Amino acid sequence: MTFPYPTAHAVPLFLAPMAGVSEAPYRMLCRRFGADVVVSEFLSSEGIRRRNDRTLGMAAFEDEERPIGIQIFGAEPATMAEAAALVTDVFAPDFVDINFGCPAKKVVKRNGGSGCLKDLDLVVRIIRAVAAATPLPVTVKIRSGWDEALRDPVGIALRCQGAGARALTLHPRTRTEMFSGAARWDEIARVVLALEIPVIGNGDIRTAEDVLRLRRTTGCAGVMIARGAFGNPWIFRQARALLDGLPKPKDPTAQGRVETALEHARLTRAIEGESPKAALEFRKHLGWYTRGLPGSGALRARLQQVNTLADVESLFEGFLATEAELAAV
Ligand SMILES: Cc1cc2nc3c(=O)[nH]c(=O)nc-3n(C[C@H](O)[C@H](O)[C@H](O)COP(=O)(O)O)c2cc1C
Repeated sequence: MTFPYPTAHAVPLFLAPMAGVSEAPYRMLCRRFGADVVVSEFLSSEGIRRRNDRTLGMAAFEDEERPIGIQIFGAEPATMAEAAALVTDVFAPDFVDINFGCPAKKVVKRNGGSGCLKDLDLVVRIIRAVAAATPLPVTVKIRSGWDEALRDPVGIALRCQGAGARALTLHPRTRTEMFSGAARWDEIARVVLALEIPVIGNGDIRTAEDVLRLRRTTGCAGVMIARGAFGNPWIFRQARALLDGLPKPKDPTAQGRVETALEHARLTRAIEGESPKAALEFRKHLGWYTRGLPGSGALRARLQQVNTLADVESLFEGFLATEAELAAV
């Protein structure tokens, strides 16, 4: 049950594909903090086929991020195949991941993402077409089904494996559930038992302890973290220590958090360049990093008004200089 791409650890930790979050700078930061594998945001196969600049821009990554998967979505096997061939040729990621989980209305109304789960023959045709179009390993990310009536994680996973998926991530909720209720880890355990390919468990990991618990209770081959990594790349370092039987590294100090947020801002400026849009999109990360940070009320208010990444950097540099002065008193 080995992964079809190199991983530094036997039980790899994954940064989940997250639209608007798992972009190159954050993926790189999480790799530095111990994420073993990262995945791009989901990219429209139609946008890739048309060589849409914005879509192709989101597929780009730095070598430091490897191993990385590019995730694509769509409901047309031929378009998905063309997109897979194109990203293989242009970007050469380590694997191509197919999104069968996205619940967004604009995606499922064209049967993309979790919309495919209403028609498992379509799921099979998509996987086969993509696998035939790229020499890279093809992996899939699924939900447990479209709705309660069609809930069948083991059946869906077996069809994916049979069609040629080389690894499978399960987020054990249906599309109808969106993000409500609890992820059903028992379903991950059942899929692990049924499949020969590696199964990556996902859903409701908030702490490093949760990673250990998910691994122990399901036997999953790898663990994928999404919302638990918001403003919290340390979760990977802490989880790795626990998986290795070592004590959990302490949560970062206020200074450590600001230093990491500054590193993230610098990476964003280096990779994406300076623009009002880049600064605006970075604000969500700022909110997450400074949530609950002692004495950060004024800093938070000012950060939400910045218009450039350079301003973000100088605010953080100012905060750190004041902290250092206070420590010296
Ligand atoms: C903001 C956001 C964006 C997401 N975008 C994607 C995506 O592009 N592709 C995908 O497969 N899943 C996407 N997901 C789902 C996550 O990868 C993950 O399956 C889900 O959040 C459950 O994991 P968690 O409980 O650790 O957050 C997204 C989730 C969030 C919160």
